[in-house]
Amino acid sequence: MKIIRSPKAMWTASQKIRKGGLTLGLVPTMGALHEGHLSLIRRASRENNRVAVSIFVNSIQFGPHEDFRRYPRDFRKDARLCAREGADFIFFPRPRAMYPEGFKTYVTVKELSEPLCGAFRPGHFQGVATVIAKLFNIVAPNKAYFGWKDAQQALIIRRLAEDLNIPVKITIMPTMREQDGLAMSSRNQYLNAEQRIRAAIVPEALQKAREMVKRGARDTRAIIKKIRPLIEATATKIDYVSIVDTGNLQRVRRIKNTALLATAVWIGKTRLIDNTILEINK
Ligand code: PAJ
Repeated sequence: MKIIRSPKAMWTASQKIRKGGLTLGLVPTMGALHEGHLSLIRRASRENNRVAVSIFVNSIQFGPHEDFRRYPRDFRKDARLCAREGADFIFFPRPRAMYPEGFKTYVTVKELSEPLCGAFRPGHFQGVATVIAKLFNIVAPNKAYFGWKDAQQALIIRRLAEDLNIPVKITIMPTMREQDGLAMSSRNQYLNAEQRIRAAIVPEALQKAREMVKRGARDTRAIIKKIRPLIEATATKIDYVSIVDTGNLQRVRRIKNTALLATAVWIGKTRLIDNTILEINK
């Protein structure tokens, strides 16, 4: 496994692979890798001749009072895990190589970036879209892998690739969870033992909503009215509990076939997001 720090060297390595007729898969991450990330790397290894994992804590997707500085970083451990899972490259750029002095270009995916997390983290998805556009240009992968845990992000990236004619196939993988259902996240490391137990309320509430739909509930207001108090009783603060269209992320009043139930809640000073698909006949 090769560790590459310069964008130019990464691009050259990619060109060599692709000119040799081999395929390259990309798994973009911010490091502090867990089973969720590893599931993407494994899938990428199965589907491509070569795999690159990018590790870059992308400053421009963090707000001024967010956790950029304290975001967990453990490159040696991440490198071991990538090697174990069959990655061929880690692209680990220095911040100034990605955002040199004079950097001025930002990518905005309209509408999809506005609801849900977009409403609470202004500029966040612009930061995500910008770094992903850069990574697609630098790594030029055939395929790229994202997690459904960040459903809004995945939909934005899909739109971005389509709209900017970037020839990459986007695969979105299911959310990996801990034993008690908590969605795996690098930010779970911030939780103390007591908060970690409280955090399990989120997947329980999602499960409750799925059961309601199974029993015939269709009215989204009624579903939210049932599950919001469960979360409220345990979480420090709720940013949103919303049921939206899986395509355009706009609120829906009634569930027709499928809808996305998405949540963002605070446990202490840690913001956790999760979601589930609500599906009729499932
Ligand atoms: P990060 O949070 O490190 O996540 C990297 C990828 O892993 C994302 O596609 C995310 O959806 C996926 N992932 C995270 N937790 C997961 C879980 N429990 N199950 C399955 N997949 C999971 O998301 C980012 O980084 C950044 O915003 C990035 C896209 C790299 C741009 O900076």
